[in-house]
Amino acid sequence: MAESVVFEFTEAEKAEIQKHVAKYPDRKSAVMPALWIAQEKFGWLSPEAMELVASTLDMPYAQVYGVASFYTMYFKKKVPKYLFDICTCFTCGECGGDQIFKHAQNSLQVDENGHSADGKFWIRQAECLAACDTGPVMQIANRRIVHNLTPAKFDQTVDMLRRDQMPAFEPVAPKYDQASPAAKAAPEPEKVQETPPPAPEVISDSSEEE
Ligand code: FES
Repeated sequence: MAESVVFEFTEAEKAEIQKHVAKYPDRKSAVMPALWIAQEKFGWLSPEAMELVASTLDMPYAQVYGVASFYTMYFKKKVPKYLFDICTCFTCGECGGDQIFKHAQNSLQVDENGHSADGKFWIRQAECLAACDTGPVMQIANRRIVHNLTPAKFDQTVDMLRRDQMPAFEPVAPKYDQASPAAKAAPEPEKVQETPPPAPEVISDSSEEE
């Protein structure tokens, strides 16, 4: 029998939403954090969950839906628990993001929606995630970024999440950090001798000399 879901916020969730409401002159402005809280609670934003946000913020359902449907981070369909946004944009694509995406498709045996055979994972190609210097990268469930991704690191991440262990936050270690051996081995940039600009030509006014 399907589990029935009660679409209500707890007192703690209401208090959290209220904290966001207090930041703005209009309570509607708290719609994004309120949607986020609803998504965290219910796993996705069903019409009932969006209705709950609308009534909590005294705003029309259509406006809540308008915001939710604009952003890809809000899920309007029931989705597997762990989303992998694998960046295949410019830098990550060049650094192996495309190959990792293919590896993820094969190893998780995803269907046409990118959902894994066991129903626990979901992959999709992402545009730049603003971590190009540690590409290829992927983001897990809208929150944790995995840097310097390789197929082996992807598999390791999947193994951890099968046990519901979120990988630890990784301190960012850019490949071309100034302290890295590669950067130290690089030749010093050539110093360019600056030549002072020529002095402006003085044009004498012959009429004054006379
Ligand atoms: S191109 Fe992947 S993070 Fe920018």
